[in-house]
Amino acid sequence: MRGIVLAGGAGTRLDPMTRVASKQLQPVYDKPMIYYPLATLMEAGISEILIISTPTDTPRFEELLGDGSPWGLSIEYAVQERPGGIAQAFLVGESFVGDEPVALILGDNIFYGALGLAEIVGAFTEGAMVFGYPVSDPLRYGVVELAADGKVLSLEEKPERPKSNLAVPGFYLYDGRVVQMTKGLRPSARGELEITDLNRAYMEEGSLRAVRLGRGIAWLDSGTHDSLLEAANFIATIEHRQGLKIACLEEIALQQGLVTPEEMETTLAAMPNSTYRDYVAGVLEEHQSAQ
Ligand code: DAU
Repeated sequence: MRGIVLAGGAGTRLDPMTRVASKQLQPVYDKPMIYYPLATLMEAGISEILIISTPTDTPRFEELLGDGSPWGLSIEYAVQERPGGIAQAFLVGESFVGDEPVALILGDNIFYGALGLAEIVGAFTEGAMVFGYPVSDPLRYGVVELAADGKVLSLEEKPERPKSNLAVPGFYLYDGRVVQMTKGLRPSARGELEITDLNRAYMEEGSLRAVRLGRGIAWLDSGTHDSLLEAANFIATIEHRQGLKIACLEEIALQQGLVTPEEMETTLAAMPNSTYRDYVAGVLEEHQSAQ
């Protein structure tokens, strides 16, 4: 399966920080925000990736991530001229998606914990899949209502009176019809192609499934100054306690066999001195001594 990271949008809620670098380029503790959704895709076994961003920010992502080869990834880029809605990603990325299943992750969504995504993605064939994550403030999100047997009863975008406490995180799976399904959507009152309308279209034909994410999984928001700080503190707390990094792309690439230790050595040689580089060097050393 291929994957899209949607990393555009106006980002005005983080002004003035986002005047010269977009939201998804901001640091979340020790790495740029976009590393986290990229790591999630890699952990799901996805290595062919399209990054979609604004006309000004796309070259900056390209400068940061290049063609993805240091991590054994193939990264392409596409420009969304204006923020026309999350579902517009499938129109911007039409040629990338073709008629194959695809995952979409929002560039500001951070997941942590054993989500079992590789199994879920490996078993996915048709329809669409969303997740449901319990939150204390569901009215800020897409909200999914599930029956006891897991059937999706309703989906609403930022409802005033949420029918459940299950928010829909920004990670979605779609079958090869997603481009056609998106072309059938009408823009919402705010003029956007809404991801919730796309999911509802799948729901109405009975092919939407939802997986409830339980305890032990963190889904963090990073769209406001406070939630960004909270996310950074969360990452720092776990990293300090365990001495392990979250979303270190080099480490995941090595674990997943996307790069060889020799290739990682070359990548390491090009990295400037930093505690991040020290960590990657340690990971490589450990990997080589375990062989
Ligand atoms: O984070 C999960 C939530 O994301 C879901 O629960 C909601 O159903 C979904 O609509 C979305 O809500 P947000 O209020 O977070 O949407 P926002 O417009 O802030 O966009 C989310 C990200 O997608 C943001 O980082 C910017 C990017 N984006 C958004 C739009 C509308 C784009 O790159 N292009 C766009 O056209």
